[in-house]
Amino acid sequence: MAFEFVASELAERRAASLFRQCQVVEQTDGRTLVVNGRQYLNFSSNDYLGLAHSDALKQVATEAAQHWSTGSGASALVTGHSLAHAELEDYLAERLERERVLLFNSGFAANQALIQTLMQRGGSILADKLCHASMLDGALASGAKLQRFAHNDMTHLASLLQKAQGDTLVMSEGVFSMDGDVAPLEQLSLLGAQHEALLYVDDAHGFGVSGHDGLGVASQWAQPQLPLLMATFGKAVGTSGAFLAVPDAIYAYLVNYARHYIYSTAMSPLLAAITLGSLKLIDTQAWRRDKLNHNIQFFRHLAGQQGLPLMASQTAIQPLLIGDAKHCMALASKLREQGMWLTPIRPPTVPPASSRLRITISAAHTEADINQLIQTLVRGMTHVG
Ligand SMILES: Cc1ncc(COP(=O)(O)O)c(C=O)c1O
Repeated sequence: MAFEFVASELAERRAASLFRQCQVVEQTDGRTLVVNGRQYLNFSSNDYLGLAHSDALKQVATEAAQHWSTGSGASALVTGHSLAHAELEDYLAERLERERVLLFNSGFAANQALIQTLMQRGGSILADKLCHASMLDGALASGAKLQRFAHNDMTHLASLLQKAQGDTLVMSEGVFSMDGDVAPLEQLSLLGAQHEALLYVDDAHGFGVSGHDGLGVASQWAQPQLPLLMATFGKAVGTSGAFLAVPDAIYAYLVNYARHYIYSTAMSPLLAAITLGSLKLIDTQAWRRDKLNHNIQFFRHLAGQQGLPLMASQTAIQPLLIGDAKHCMALASKLREQGMWLTPIRPPTVPPASSRLRITISAAHTEADINQLIQTLVRGMTHVG
């Protein structure tokens, strides 16, 4: 029978406790969510600054809706590139001190567009072992040879760079999405420069929360040190979409050759205008970052007191490594019974035997929420073992 793999691979996933399915979120205010009529505290959102549900951003959206349409109506190169898009790009280019900025509908598309297009003629791609799936897919769709260096291991990267052939792209995340640790940007940049390789950083989880004014890694590393940057709007910025910040020539090359850019309807102008409003809130409402940082420290302090096995992360991503997928699922379901929403993250999103509860802390949480999380985790872990 044709397509037999569909049933057999799904059965395999079920048997290994790796089957995935969507849950309908009936209501949410950022801090909490409602599923099947029950309310939970939400510790699985990337809305790190609590902006997505804030009154401030709703106000921005209401005003933007007076001026901008919901749909762009065409790809950017046809008639889809509005003043709202141009203003967002210009704001980012100026704040990040980059020559050009280019918008995409998602971070997944931006990663694929840059990597696939820039490396279509071959060469070498050296990627951190924990780089996001969209970066790896971009590399696999390019003409280049992909090699992965051990996570944050600069000695391994240096040895791969010695042997790399042709135009070389080194890529990493700024804040790693599943572990919450950060990349050694200075060494990455130095090694890249020594070997005439271009450095590409995906700052999806740093943009909006880390660096000067929440500008992420780009606030510390200028364009010559970090020539290729991507960040998303779907996390701390509280909207969706993404941008690439690149030198002039690469901008023009992408506009002419990046299939994800050329053959896709441009981001909604309304969304572009709201995103710009959100970036301005990030700039003026520094208290959101202060509150997030306070909450992270508060969580780590309480978790440390209770002896919970935290990873080294100092960011909003605070994974609790469980290992076995079945065990992780059982723990998540126990926590759900207690009103706590923590989505278990399992392979292939993370390496084999490293299933985890990816706890994400937000500025929207209160100390009482975090206290409740810790108490529930302690009880759950004792119960599930
Ligand atoms: C590191 C990283 N890069 C890229 C993406 C993709 O971004 P988007 O959700 O905008 O497609 C994600 C997650 O969604 C991510 O965690």
